[in-house]
Amino acid sequence: MDLDVERVRACFPALKDGTAFFDGPGGSQVPRQVAHAVASTMGAGLSNRGTVTRTERRADEVVLGARAAVADLLGCDAGGVVFGRSMTQLTYDLARSLARRWGPGDEVVVTRLDHDADIRPWVTAAEAVGATVRWVELDTGTGELVFDRAVLSGRTRLVAVTGASNLLGTRPDVAAIAAAAHDAGALLFVDGVHLTPHAPVDVAGLGADFFACSPYKFFGPHLGVLAAAPALLETVHPDKLLPSTDAVPERFELGTLPYELLAGTTAAVDFVGSLASDAEDRRSRVVESMRQVERREERLFERLLAGLDAIDGVTRFGRPARRTPTVLFAVAGRTGAEVHQHLATRGVNAPAGSFYALEASRALGLGDTGAVRAGLAPYTSDEDVERLLAVVAEAAE
Ligand SMILES: Cc1ncc(COP(=O)(O)O)c(C=O)c1O
Repeated sequence: MDLDVERVRACFPALKDGTAFFDGPGGSQVPRQVAHAVASTMGAGLSNRGTVTRTERRADEVVLGARAAVADLLGCDAGGVVFGRSMTQLTYDLARSLARRWGPGDEVVVTRLDHDADIRPWVTAAEAVGATVRWVELDTGTGELVFDRAVLSGRTRLVAVTGASNLLGTRPDVAAIAAAAHDAGALLFVDGVHLTPHAPVDVAGLGADFFACSPYKFFGPHLGVLAAAPALLETVHPDKLLPSTDAVPERFELGTLPYELLAGTTAAVDFVGSLASDAEDRRSRVVESMRQVERREERLFERLLAGLDAIDGVTRFGRPARRTPTVLFAVAGRTGAEVHQHLATRGVNAPAGSFYALEASRALGLGDTGAVRAGLAPYTSDEDVERLLAVVAEAAE
């Protein structure tokens, strides 16, 4: 089944005013189905999770339903799906918990490509216990990681790498990095926040011990997800309140879960599965749909890149071999903020910044202000791309 962009677009109330949204890498727009799931869950009556009253059972079903949905999205075990306020919060919490087992002489590997949410929590946690941080550097010409096994040793405890760069779109060879990390006896944490909206994900296939993503990047509400094998989570002991359960995955979820946002997350996964598939089971629908999304975005992205390259004064950063449809560029004689402003006057949303991939932005020579970023989403139309190109050309005049 092909992805019917007009059918997809009709589901998004935010598209009605004609805005062309290229800021999906910062957070996607939300389809009606997701907003409805959030509102109807709040309106239906909810209590704390339990088994006695109807409203207690509803809360319980919402939580278990969302874990099952994320398991179908990522190809992981529902019993190892942890929800939190954001990927950043979950990563900080996990880093602090894991670091209790690290000490001087132990090593943690981070990359120069990653969003800071997959760098700073590890750096801070390592420094707190006297462990050493090692860096995988970025080839600033290609935008690819320069991964060399020499960065690993018998003392490497954890490798943290992105599934896809939210700045340049680069998709590192995660499976190869996983194999090397596992050979060294280290765990692999994959930041899947930017990968998940653009490709089918198979956590086990990637070799990720931990995989994080954020539903608000794939049509869902603002919260974060951490997925791992339940048996691995059993070995990790986060700080928790005395009366709260010690069961996995609940012991990683501090306080009361946002039930309505979990219902929205389930609706978001269902929506992903409905994009371009009518297969019987949800996992197959998600995988088939995301293959179609990848195919369509690749095609549209080629047009976007060719169009940008044809505009005098536009510089693109990074030319990775394997990438998401996300491009970083600058316009000669204009700051990124000016281009962002100019696009906004024409109803085109494409902000400028480092987008918290601060190490990468600095390595590229773009400092802390970065450049303009444009990313495609399943609701991006051919006309949106032509409009972006026309308005960038105006900005470059
Ligand atoms: C690649 C990547 N990692 C991590 C994050 C942080 O996610 P969250 O906002 O859920 O903390 C983002 C957010 O933009 C991101 O793009």
